[in-house]
Amino acid sequence: MSNSIKKILITGGLGFIGSNFVRYFINKYPDCQIINLDKITYAGNPDNLLDIQDNPNYQFVKGDITDAKTVNPLFEQGLDAVVNFAAETHVDRSIDDASQFIMTDVYGTYVLLEAARKFGVKRFVQISTDEVYGEAVAVPCKEADTLMPKSPYAASKAGADRLVYSYYTTYNLPAVITRCSNNFGAYQYPEKLISLLITNLLEDKPLPIYGDGKNKRDWIYVTDHCRALDMVLHADNIEGEVFNVGSQCEYDNLSIAKTILDLLGKPHDLITFVGDRAGHVKRHAVNTDKIKNELGWTPETDFQTGMQKTINWYKENTKWWRKIKTCEYMEYYRTHYNLK
Ligand code: NAD
Ligand code: DAU
Repeated sequence: MSNSIKKILITGGLGFIGSNFVRYFINKYPDCQIINLDKITYAGNPDNLLDIQDNPNYQFVKGDITDAKTVNPLFEQGLDAVVNFAAETHVDRSIDDASQFIMTDVYGTYVLLEAARKFGVKRFVQISTDEVYGEAVAVPCKEADTLMPKSPYAASKAGADRLVYSYYTTYNLPAVITRCSNNFGAYQYPEKLISLLITNLLEDKPLPIYGDGKNKRDWIYVTDHCRALDMVLHADNIEGEVFNVGSQCEYDNLSIAKTILDLLGKPHDLITFVGDRAGHVKRHAVNTDKIKNELGWTPETDFQTGMQKTINWYKENTKWWRKIKTCEYMEYYRTHYNLK
């Protein structure tokens, strides 16, 4: 695979991880042509790739992955690889209404798989998630563990994850699946914990913490995730495989809030306990021995460094998040949290 990716389709490239990946990829492989297919939902933001938009090797297509009439012509041009980031991604929104999650995350993946089967690709990378395992009860989850997703979001992603695998076993589609833990970094929509806490604090607003704040997540800096995906995209003889990606950097939500408060020099009484998330997973954690041993990947950015970089980015890019936090997002925020 190493040098054979000349044209790649990236879906959901205007979202948080997708835009970080497009930027990473175009810098590392300046001769590769990138097509970014994104519907521009509330989470898709053209501002995320303003610096890339005029690059002659970058093409943006506004469209929906559930629409075969949009998807098929892109594959017809001849693609070497696909990385499918496009998804509805927020657990809380999936609890409010699962329909769009099933449409995009499951059916949209099916539309892409059918196009890949019909027109052929050398590699199809499905961005799954560690949420598909459900609770990491005693030890971090391994790739062969049972999938027990607990939210409609996680169940939709698990459906897509196994659908991709079935296209490998049934049609020999050269697909690979990754299951990463919680990402943080620049360009994250401020509905997710770390970006929400940082941007709230920059406005001296309370920090909403669900339940008792003891739920744990494994936090990975987004660029480390991009590096892992680059390896998965280019490695030979891994078709049909699943790779966990994570940092072994587990913190509970209260510790995350306190870290950010301390780094910004704000008082801890801004922490505000709010009602718990339904079906709230106590602990997500993944074992990453496989990607380390088989592909030689390890995370490079430790949590403190990543957090400081992230805080600096939100401090320096207030225009980016204020634009979001004065639009429809605030309607969601007020209804969801009952906070000002
Ligand atoms: P995000 O919500 O920031 O971005 C999602 C993007 O997908 C947006 O640009 C949106 O416009 C686009 N999109 C949504 N529906 C679409 C459709 N029907 N057609 C085309 N585009 C559509 O998401 P993110 O946090 O960057 O996550 C990206 C992927 O990584 C998702 O598949 C998610 O499940 C997975 N993932 C995320 C994390 C995390 O911590 N954020 C961790 C592991 C896996
Ligand atoms: O594990 C990977 C997953 O990480 C991805 O697949 C999802 O797309 C991504 O959204 C993320 O899911 P989480 O539900 O873990 O992320 P979120 O930032 O929403 O929540 C992280 C933790 O913080 C979780 O325990 C819930 C808690 N939380 C979240 C919010 C938004 C709060 O306590 N308060 C909040 O306001």
